[in-house]
Amino acid sequence: MKVAIFASGNGSNFEAIAQSEELKQAGLEIEVLVCDQPKAHVIKRAEKYHIPVFVNRLADFANRSDYEQAIIDKLKPLGIEYILLAGYMKVVTTTLLSAYPNHIINIHPSLLPKYSGLEAIERAYEANDRVTGVTIHYIDEGVDTGPIIKQCKVVRLRNDTEDSLEQRIHQTEHQMYVEVIHDLLNKNNGVGK
Ligand code: GRF
Repeated sequence: MKVAIFASGNGSNFEAIAQSEELKQAGLEIEVLVCDQPKAHVIKRAEKYHIPVFVNRLADFANRSDYEQAIIDKLKPLGIEYILLAGYMKVVTTTLLSAYPNHIINIHPSLLPKYSGLEAIERAYEANDRVTGVTIHYIDEGVDTGPIIKQCKVVRLRNDTEDSLEQRIHQTEHQMYVEVIHDLLNKNNGVGK
């Protein structure tokens, strides 16, 4: 199964997927990292795993549709079947959605629909929520909406700082993303049919 991963920043989720031998053996092929930020750390991570990088900046296009069309023109010849968003900080619009209907997946650090949008971890921490978590979902035109694939809770411990809570949320994300992709690969390989 050929995928493209989209990321804009740090790239720890990208790396969790890229380094997974289990996913590789199950048939995952990361054909390209799509990145909208030329200086993002995720680019260094991609180089480490010899994964090609496609840097595409919104500022270089007249509008969002042209920007997304350039991505589609890159992905289609590569035979990309799924797009995995992993800290991609742009809203996806109908141009890309209609090129990959029901084949774009996102990860978000909260129990959606709670805390959609930016700074989800910080907001859950400041609200003193005892339980927060992670959501993986297909995307639609909304911000962090779309059918949910999997959710996992992360419990706030009494001594948690925002940093320690954030770390556990990220660990949960990395495990969950690998699991969800694994399930997807099994489904594509016809396992369980
Ligand atoms: C993650 O918390 C993810 O849920 C959100 O953006 C963050 C990306 O982190 N969409 P990283 O770049 O994968 O380290």
